[in-house]
Amino acid sequence: MTPDLIQRHAAPLPRYTSYPTANHFSAKVTAADYRGWLADLPEGAALSLYLHIPFCKELCWYCGCSTKAVHRYDPVADYMQPLGREIETISGLVPAKHRVTHIHWGGGSPDILKPDDILRLGRLMREKFVIDPGAEIAVEIDPRLMTEEQAHAFADIGINRVSIGVQDFDVAVQRAIGRMQSYETTAAVVEMFRRRGVTSINIDLVYGLPHQTVESCTRTLEQVISLNPDRIAIFGYAHLPERLKHQRLIDEKALPGVVERFAQSSKLSELLIEAGYTQLGLDHFARAADSLATKALARNFQGYTTDAADALIGFGASAISRLPQGFAQNSVPVDEYFRRVSAEGVAIARGHCFTSDDTLRAYVIERLMCDFAFSWDDLVRRFGERAESIRLDAEAVVAGDADHLVDNSEEAFRLTSRGKVLVRNVCAAFDAYLTRDVARRRHALSV
Ligand SMILES: C[S@@+](CC[C@H](N)C(=O)[O-])C[C@H]1O[C@@H](n2cnc3c(N)ncnc32)[C@H](O)[C@@H]1O
Ligand code: SF4
Repeated sequence: MTPDLIQRHAAPLPRYTSYPTANHFSAKVTAADYRGWLADLPEGAALSLYLHIPFCKELCWYCGCSTKAVHRYDPVADYMQPLGREIETISGLVPAKHRVTHIHWGGGSPDILKPDDILRLGRLMREKFVIDPGAEIAVEIDPRLMTEEQAHAFADIGINRVSIGVQDFDVAVQRAIGRMQSYETTAAVVEMFRRRGVTSINIDLVYGLPHQTVESCTRTLEQVISLNPDRIAIFGYAHLPERLKHQRLIDEKALPGVVERFAQSSKLSELLIEAGYTQLGLDHFARAADSLATKALARNFQGYTTDAADALIGFGASAISRLPQGFAQNSVPVDEYFRRVSAEGVAIARGHCFTSDDTLRAYVIERLMCDFAFSWDDLVRRFGERAESIRLDAEAVVAGDADHLVDNSEEAFRLTSRGKVLVRNVCAAFDAYLTRDVARRRHALSV
């Protein structure tokens, strides 16, 4: 990759954690649709559950998650009531015979919850849903909040995978992003979980943050590798200050440019591969024995996953559900979420019904994001004649591919090693909504 090539292709594009992306959702999908979709799930359906805890102690200036800072526990305690009600309503709508294969507690910071609330919520899920004995139950953790009592409660409810936010250990970077967190605090939290038998650990890092350099990112990564996590995710900083006001606290003059961002991500990937990690998709790395490296890769709102459930059901403010018929998203503001759950038992504010073209394109984009390729035979087997529209798009990509990002043959459409770095750009060529997307400022740089 040359600096010129990177500069030419860097563009604001979706991360394709869904297709269509959430900015194309509308109020056409209602609570009644959602109830109908849940009732239509077949007996024995495999379910994945997502629980959103939209609170943090403080807002990190770079944060792109749906969360808010709370200085008292009251708003968090109040949130437990609608969340419990929503869980109860939905458990009464899905078929009695189902099995939950994945549960993810995300945020925000689920470790803002007091141990008793962690236990109550975990027990309620077990009471209301049939959870597979081998289910993966994961939680996102802000290490600055964690106590031994919380670790105990999470282990007690069966959490078996933990994702810990680090971002960067460099103090100058931490000051510039409003998040101070020592290596020692982080190491203590890893230890807290390992001691309780929760050995599957992921650590999140971010590159492209203010004052970061290849050297500073390397130092952070070396410290992270010394903790020996099973997985490491390396996200490119998504800077969207027009949409996310708190990001205006970040000094834009201190942000690395696209060529420097690329140098940082390339160095981090190289070091991780040297350290024995396998690269998965765009930004995830895992030990060879980790399920992310051994099972088929899929993509959902949390990024890369092995989750192959028939439906994803989201609980809590802003949570998104994916059912065979479409996406349904809960109200984002907590007070509105509360009002809707009190009135209707669920909190759907918007969503999207899949067209047959959506399911085809969603499949192509997911395969490209996960495998950097798709097979023509497979596409025709699944979608029949409809695969022709993808063939036409693929031919157009090849015709305009002056930089050799793709290889298209009788068997498969593949990204070259250059194309893999620019996978979001190639996916965009198969995105039927993007050309109509007037809100390009919603997406961050593709490199
Ligand atoms: C919900 S947070 C993780 C848990 C916990 N709240 C914490 O921060 O430690 C999810 C992850 O998203 C990533 N993230 C947040 N904002 C981002 C942004 N603007 N650009 C890229 N990655 C971001 C961070 O790596 C963060 O750890
Ligand atoms: S990065 Fe994590 S702790 Fe920081 S504001 Fe976002 S969700 Fe909260």
